[in-house]
Amino acid sequence: MSYHKNLTIGLFGFGVVGEGLYHILNQTPSLKATIKKICVKHPDKKRNAPKELFTTDRNELLLDPEINVIVEVINETEAAFEIVTTALKNGKDVVSSSKKMLAENMPELLGLQKQTNMSLLYEAAACASIPIIRNLEEYYDNDLVQSVKAIANGTTNFILTKMFEDKLEFKQALLLAQQSGFAETDPTLDIEGYDALNKWTILLNHSYGIVERPENIVFTGIQNINQNDAMVAREKHYEIKLVAQAKKLNNGDVAAFVLPQFVNQHDQLAFVKNEYNGVVIESGFSDKQFFYGKGAGSFPTGSAVLSDISALRYDYHYEYKKLYHHQPNRLTEDFYLKVYISFDNNAFIPKEKFEWIEEWHADLNRNYLIGVLPFSELKNTKWWKEDNVSLILSPEPIIEDVEIRKLKKKSLELAGVTL
Ligand code: HSE
Repeated sequence: MSYHKNLTIGLFGFGVVGEGLYHILNQTPSLKATIKKICVKHPDKKRNAPKELFTTDRNELLLDPEINVIVEVINETEAAFEIVTTALKNGKDVVSSSKKMLAENMPELLGLQKQTNMSLLYEAAACASIPIIRNLEEYYDNDLVQSVKAIANGTTNFILTKMFEDKLEFKQALLLAQQSGFAETDPTLDIEGYDALNKWTILLNHSYGIVERPENIVFTGIQNINQNDAMVAREKHYEIKLVAQAKKLNNGDVAAFVLPQFVNQHDQLAFVKNEYNGVVIESGFSDKQFFYGKGAGSFPTGSAVLSDISALRYDYHYEYKKLYHHQPNRLTEDFYLKVYISFDNNAFIPKEKFEWIEEWHADLNRNYLIGVLPFSELKNTKWWKEDNVSLILSPEPIIEDVEIRKLKKKSLELAGVTL
């Protein structure tokens, strides 16, 4: 006979996700999980749940011995960290959706899970309804993950879709995303790539055992992408997506970053529109696999939280297998990227930093080049993030050192230079 714990939940937060979860739980009586108390910041707000469930005193949840699971779906990073760490120390399992808090505090949270032996689950924190973390932990339980790439932010994907397919202005598209509840309270977190970066920091751990602080990972968002870039994309039959990716190089080290990218129309990620997210995993033997689903919104995120709650009934813990049971991979800067860069003024572009430039275009509307840059240039400088510059990766952007030497030789030959 299987053993299933009864779960008594203390819920922190009753916003888009919290309320979604509350309704989902009410429609899932078979789970035998009940919410005993809900802690909120504003007691006077009208809520879609019985008044007696609510409190503003966090200790009513954290110190209640009957509550064995804390579900934390609040917006404030510091308060979320405080709640999660106190709950673990008080012997409660925790489900969290606070991606920023998780990404910024992973070393401490790993330590605390070991020390307390309590479980901390956070499937909702990365790609919401797509069960990517548990798949990486359980199904890809080996060191054969070659590459992972993802559209991990629903708001930016929604804005790109609305701008380039429905011809909406950026501001209008953002407003729609905000009205639908996809966007962060501070939408620059979405637009400038921070949210995708936080999710990527979390997924790098489950993909490769890499525990890195978000600020050490190269990233940007879609803030500088403009209609001229969209025109180039159309001419070349590409879509523009904000892609978080990681690839194991020939020496076993991992290249990882979050940057806008031109995506071929037959690429799985081109299929991902609006607030949907998508993840493509390439592994040693299974080749490519594509996960697709809603990455934001009340019920999709609530459903991921529900799945974690359900897993706690049989005491599920992440084992962090890539980190603890395998030799974790290391991040490297030792590779090159093929990039498109558009700009107003070419005085801002350090042309001498390019290995080579394949295409150079200048007319009244737009100036752009396509060339190959060492990744370290992106890591160590900021010119490519300036207001008047937009950087978009090529469809197959990563070039390894050995390939660079071969390609250089070939391009010189094409240019008629005999070696
Ligand atoms: N703002 C986030 C997004 C919400 O747009 O993806 C889901 O994490």
